[in-house]
Amino acid sequence: MKTIFISIFLLCAAVNLRAEDGHQLWLRPHQAAPVTVVMASKNSALLAMAKQELERGWQGAAGATVTLTLKKDNAIKHDGFRLGPTSVRATTEAGLLYGVFELLRRQQTGQPVADKVFNPSYEYRLLNHWDNPDGSVERGYAGHSIFWRKDSSFVVTAKDKALWQEYARANASVGLNGAVINNVNASPRILSADYLGRTKAIADVLRPYGVKTYLAVKFSSPVLLGGLKTADPLDPAVRKWWQAKAKEIYQQIPDFGGFLVKASSEGQPGPQDYGRTHADGANMLAEAVRPYGGLVMWRAFVYSPNDKDRAKQAYNEFVPLDGKFRDNVIVQVKNGPVDFQPREPFSPLFGAMKKTSVMPEFQITQEYLGHAIDLVFLSTMWEECLRSDTYQAGPGSTVARCTDGSVYPQKHTAMAGVANVGLDTNWTGQDFGQANWYAFGRLAWNNQLSSAQIADEWLKQTFAGAADQRATTAAASDWNTNFLVPITQLMLASREAAVNYSMPLGLHHIMSATHDHYGPGPWWAPPKMRADWTPPYYHQASANGVGFDRTTGGSNAVSQYHEPLAAQFNNPATCPDEYLLWFHHLPWDFKMKSGRTLWDELALHYDQGVHQVRQFQQVWDKAQPYVDAERFVAVQNKLRAQSGNAVLWKDACLLYFQQFSHLPIPATVEPPM
Ligand code: GCU
Repeated sequence: MKTIFISIFLLCAAVNLRAEDGHQLWLRPHQAAPVTVVMASKNSALLAMAKQELERGWQGAAGATVTLTLKKDNAIKHDGFRLGPTSVRATTEAGLLYGVFELLRRQQTGQPVADKVFNPSYEYRLLNHWDNPDGSVERGYAGHSIFWRKDSSFVVTAKDKALWQEYARANASVGLNGAVINNVNASPRILSADYLGRTKAIADVLRPYGVKTYLAVKFSSPVLLGGLKTADPLDPAVRKWWQAKAKEIYQQIPDFGGFLVKASSEGQPGPQDYGRTHADGANMLAEAVRPYGGLVMWRAFVYSPNDKDRAKQAYNEFVPLDGKFRDNVIVQVKNGPVDFQPREPFSPLFGAMKKTSVMPEFQITQEYLGHAIDLVFLSTMWEECLRSDTYQAGPGSTVARCTDGSVYPQKHTAMAGVANVGLDTNWTGQDFGQANWYAFGRLAWNNQLSSAQIADEWLKQTFAGAADQRATTAAASDWNTNFLVPITQLMLASREAAVNYSMPLGLHHIMSATHDHYGPGPWWAPPKMRADWTPPYYHQASANGVGFDRTTGGSNAVSQYHEPLAAQFNNPATCPDEYLLWFHHLPWDFKMKSGRTLWDELALHYDQGVHQVRQFQQVWDKAQPYVDAERFVAVQNKLRAQSGNAVLWKDACLLYFQQFSHLPIPATVEPPM
């Protein structure tokens, strides 16, 4: 008897712990009400998932009957759906699954369910995993790869499958429908039989959740793997090699998504090695996957050591190729012209390529934004980019509209995010990193969503006990006032805080190179190092002032923007403060719009960043009654580290720049500790 009690106790404790740890993401188990699911179509693995999700999460009227119908409906695009309080209609099976998740999300977050069509902004919504074949993850801060093993073992265990299933389910719940499962700095080995075997196993697990599998490929694979003498895209033997490889892949994975390619970029081989263009390279691969409906996502992340201004190169190389790409190629463009910095203006390629499918690439993993330590909700950064007006086809030609097919008749539309997922129990290292995965999916589905709504949804679904704490009116109002409102505000302010304490006023790329881009390093410039990899190349600090001159009198990067932006950015009086030192080199005593000098303003921003993080700590401390102990302490510890990091940024940057400004740190700013 005693043993039974102990076992029951241990079981409850285990269940409780499981429910409280961060592994469940925003898909926490709920006490579901009984529901009958009627499927007006033949059964399939995907539909079985949809049914199962409804049964395990239904929060509507007990005993309700919900119908899932596959039916033609002209208002529904791609894998969109039509939702009613007890019905989901779609034209694809994936659409039904997304409809189910939307219905459940609305029930759990208290949003109304009226009759409405939901269509995705982008046809392809993908995560890019920078996972290496040895299981390490480039710019990954949440443990090893969930896909690849260090010991190069190709044995697929039940544990692997369970994990991939949970991963796919999380993706499907926010509408993500593709995963590139290896690093863009691709090893040729990924296309060998062993790795393709494991890729097939992964694809088989992701498929029932509507998630397609893609691979990143190395351009020189025909040489490195195939033993050919060249990888020249116009060489018939090379073309044949890729065609045979595509055939081999599709024989195993009939719905394989296609290839992601980083070529002629950061030392990677590419068509330029053979005097060919990006279009020649991309089109060759596009032809190889075309018979199977595959896609090629060709990255535009290019720059070279000789260029006077790295920010200009992608535009210069790609705009002349507009219209030269096959229609199953999508050019994948990072949000900004340099490299995922805490703040960049949007890449001028958006809207400038009018006859080519162009997709935004965002970085979910926080390479330049505090790794998995700093709490930074990136949704506001992506929202800022998506809402930026390019003016390329008149006012209102936002990055969102220039990439989702609203402005140009793109054949394909897509959005990619560099994943922050690893083997850590909570998937993302920092518990709030999950919010960035969630936000990316939601924005890829609907690029008009506000970050405030996304934060609200995520918090309501993610925090255990939230549902119970909202069970009665009094409890709900307490939970809203003391947890939801302040934590939403914290999240919404967090990205600006990170910009303030690290790279305010348009400063960029001044991070530490020796600590994997964590923390400050504006001084770092070892002899013989490539200038465009060193911070002084970007901040240009001297006795004369600070900032990169990209005006018409400088590198002229400004002219890659459409008017009225080019003129606005070109003039320091009209250039928004947040991009000032991105476009201008200005004297330390330059008069800012606030009336302060540039030096004082800079100091103030750094100081503000530090204060903001300290405030986040206080806000989080007050959230203790509403959060399970495990996550409360974990986030509290991370915020403490972030606070130290913010102080370090401020002190290091102000003391470093002071050598050039020779000005006192203003009194409003706390002295370095
Ligand atoms: C950055 C990052 C690299 C990555 C590259 C890319 O430079 O530091 O790790 O390979 O971006 O996007 O390809």
